[in-house]
Amino acid sequence: MAESIVKYGIIGVGMMGREHLINLYHLRTEGAVVVAIADPHLPSQQLALHLSHSFSWPLRVFSDHHELLESGLCDVLVVSTPNMTHHRILMDIINHPRPHHVLVEKPLCTTVAHCKEVIHAARKRPDILVQVGLEYRYMPPVAKLIEIVKGGSIGHVRMVAIREHRFPFLVKVNDWNRFNVNSGGTLVEKCCHFFDLMRLFAGANPVRVMASGAIDVNHKDEIYDGKVPDIIDNAYTIVEFDNGSRGMLDLCMFAEGSKNEQEISVVGEVGKGEAFVPENVVRFGTREAGRDGVQTLKAEDHRIKYDGLHHGSSYLEHLNLLGAIRTKGEKAPPVDLQDGLISVAIGVAAQLSIEYGRFVTIQEVM
Ligand SMILES: NC(=O)c1ccc[n+]([C@@H]2O[C@H](COP(=O)([O-])OP(=O)(O)OC[C@H]3O[C@@H](n4cnc5c(N)ncnc54)[C@H](O)[C@@H]3O)[C@@H](O)[C@H]2O)c1
Repeated sequence: MAESIVKYGIIGVGMMGREHLINLYHLRTEGAVVVAIADPHLPSQQLALHLSHSFSWPLRVFSDHHELLESGLCDVLVVSTPNMTHHRILMDIINHPRPHHVLVEKPLCTTVAHCKEVIHAARKRPDILVQVGLEYRYMPPVAKLIEIVKGGSIGHVRMVAIREHRFPFLVKVNDWNRFNVNSGGTLVEKCCHFFDLMRLFAGANPVRVMASGAIDVNHKDEIYDGKVPDIIDNAYTIVEFDNGSRGMLDLCMFAEGSKNEQEISVVGEVGKGEAFVPENVVRFGTREAGRDGVQTLKAEDHRIKYDGLHHGSSYLEHLNLLGAIRTKGEKAPPVDLQDGLISVAIGVAAQLSIEYGRFVTIQEVM
């Protein structure tokens, strides 16, 4: 049994908030307990309550994050509300006299300016740990590929290609994800995950971004308050890094007929590594050993007690944050606010590149 209980509150208990609730239940033997939620939407509250009853966890229910902050019940707050609300909620948490550690869902905020405001405010609160939910880093095949690349087996990384071919955006509470103004745009909203990975594999920061994309297939027959959704459903994005590496994202959201949802390829001067999700397969080989020398591994992480919607990555991100909290920040949260900011900045530059029809520099958006 863990030495002390860490009390969590979840702000926003829609699909992802309830996913956090279930993950934290699987971390109960590590000392995690969810004691409160805040959400104005009655059906979301009821679904979360139903879950917590089945866990025998009594929950205080608030309709607003201010009430939850004032309650003083929690040590850690999970922010899993719609993207456009992250900025206001984070500022209120960080500026509150009582310290609360935070796990904020991606994207950190929908604009670079808002991300920077949060970073500025957080600098004044060294008593608060903030981790950003860029959880793809923890998916076992991705984590294994990171280990191979960082171990030097493929040499200096030159190219990172990420393909996400999947199903369309799901229906969300009040349809917030149908419009760029709420989500930040597809290349911010969901692709911040992949820009974060590219930057991690490249071991460098982005310099400029070129993208081509459109809304070609999905959501064109939907209307909300008289408006048709404006979120793109496919794009190619090229990112150039300051060490000469380049990345490419191939996103398609009408590709249900795919074996894998994500395919990642990292090529260095010595060799190449690949990761496939959800097949959980990793391959790597060298130029010298050629095709016959390519090794195939099955990626697993035996620490994972709940796979959930994201192949165990939500479980591991919570485990990491809990570790950082228990060491009082000596083990800094592995995905920090700067990672959150840069992943959003690349997405914003990519969205603008589509609009302008040219390369957009990171300097322009920063
Ligand atoms: N890590 C991932 O891969 C991943 C996957 C899905 C969603 N997400 C992120 O999780 C967040 C939530 O997405 P979702 O899919 O759960 O959406 P959702 O629409 O299912 O749920 C959002 C919930 O937040 C509530 N809410 C809205 N405004 C609020 C406020 N001011 N205070 C408290 N609650 C509020 C809504 O009533 C709703 O219940 C988003 O930021 C999204 O990008 C991340």
